[in-house]
Amino acid sequence: MSSAPRSLRPATLCVHAGTYHDPATGGACSPVFASTACAFPNPANENVYPRYFNTPNQRVIEQKLAALEQGEAAVVFGSGMAAIATLLFAHLKAGDHAVFQADLYGGTVQFVQELQRFGVRVSFARTAEEFPAGLRPETRVIYVESPSNPLLRIMDLTAIARLGRERGVLTVVDNTFATPINQNPLAVGLHAVVHSGTKYLNGHSDVNAGVVVASSAIVERTRECAVNHGGMLDAQACSLLERGLKTLALRVNQHNQNAARLAAFLAGHPAVADVLYPGLPAHPDHALASRQMRGFGGMLAFELREGRSVDALLRTFRLVMPALSLGGVESLVCVPSRTSHRNLSSEERQRAGIRDGLIRVSVGVEDIDDLIDDFASALDAAS
Ligand SMILES: Cc1ncc(COP(=O)(O)O)c(C=O)c1O
Repeated sequence: MSSAPRSLRPATLCVHAGTYHDPATGGACSPVFASTACAFPNPANENVYPRYFNTPNQRVIEQKLAALEQGEAAVVFGSGMAAIATLLFAHLKAGDHAVFQADLYGGTVQFVQELQRFGVRVSFARTAEEFPAGLRPETRVIYVESPSNPLLRIMDLTAIARLGRERGVLTVVDNTFATPINQNPLAVGLHAVVHSGTKYLNGHSDVNAGVVVASSAIVERTRECAVNHGGMLDAQACSLLERGLKTLALRVNQHNQNAARLAAFLAGHPAVADVLYPGLPAHPDHALASRQMRGFGGMLAFELREGRSVDALLRTFRLVMPALSLGGVESLVCVPSRTSHRNLSSEERQRAGIRDGLIRVSVGVEDIDDLIDDFASALDAAS
């Protein structure tokens, strides 16, 4: 494994941290260890098996992500939801209580409903100021997402970290939208970071993955639970994810720049009623985002003025693809009420503030002038 020192800067860690140096060839890339049957007994007396989360390709990802997120350790999963579900199952039991941010990725909200079938009690808070009142003696987890999907709200991570440490409650943040390039929640005191690795970490819309990064103790407890839940990532997918991660810093810097330009264009367009992007001074959390993030990310959302047709807009794009998912090199749009949050009841969507006409954009790394041209002609068609 690469002994890249942790003091290196993020772009360097993306390229070098965790690389498995192949003694047979001296190759620059980690080899793919495809075996699911590994010799036992062996000199280390270790049972190596992909579902035990201990293969060389899994370790490469874990070391790279632990270095990038400034955590002691990491564990890689077959999807973001596998990472989130396993971390929460590992740290909650019947009778415990957890407080979740009200505005979260729809799949996480559905999982919270599932958790309640196992006797875990839950409540919701909208802002960092609302969390303390939500805590009970039996509260074990505080769970936030920043920026949130799809409303791009920013949670005060320093306040959440302080609350969790004062009250002895595990704090978890979904860092999928920000990526470790734009913010490092563990560095401000959060206990655990989760990611959908399917998004920016892989970055090419061709791998499903997830990761938990935290202290060694939290990661070991999560890994013990993961062995029983089984949501592992195989060697080929780890290898693709490793390749994607090498360009994470390059890509995220371009996503940041492109999203800032597109947000400014949309905010000045007469057909657009509202733009949600934390980099815009008009965003309600702009000051907090400026303090907390190194870049504002590649995600934004907007709404059309009344009478403008969302369907006409989606039909008219030439480059931008109406699609699920996000965080890849290509620009994607979706309507969360019909996609990521469609399994929520309209009451739940209303509670979360997700209006039916909201359009979410994952701004890719294409030439920004081509993207703006595409949006300009689609907005004309929608009017
Ligand atoms: C913020 C966020 N967290 C978690 C997930 C779940 O990730 P996956 O689809 O890899 O399970 C998603 C998926 O869209 C997401 O947007």
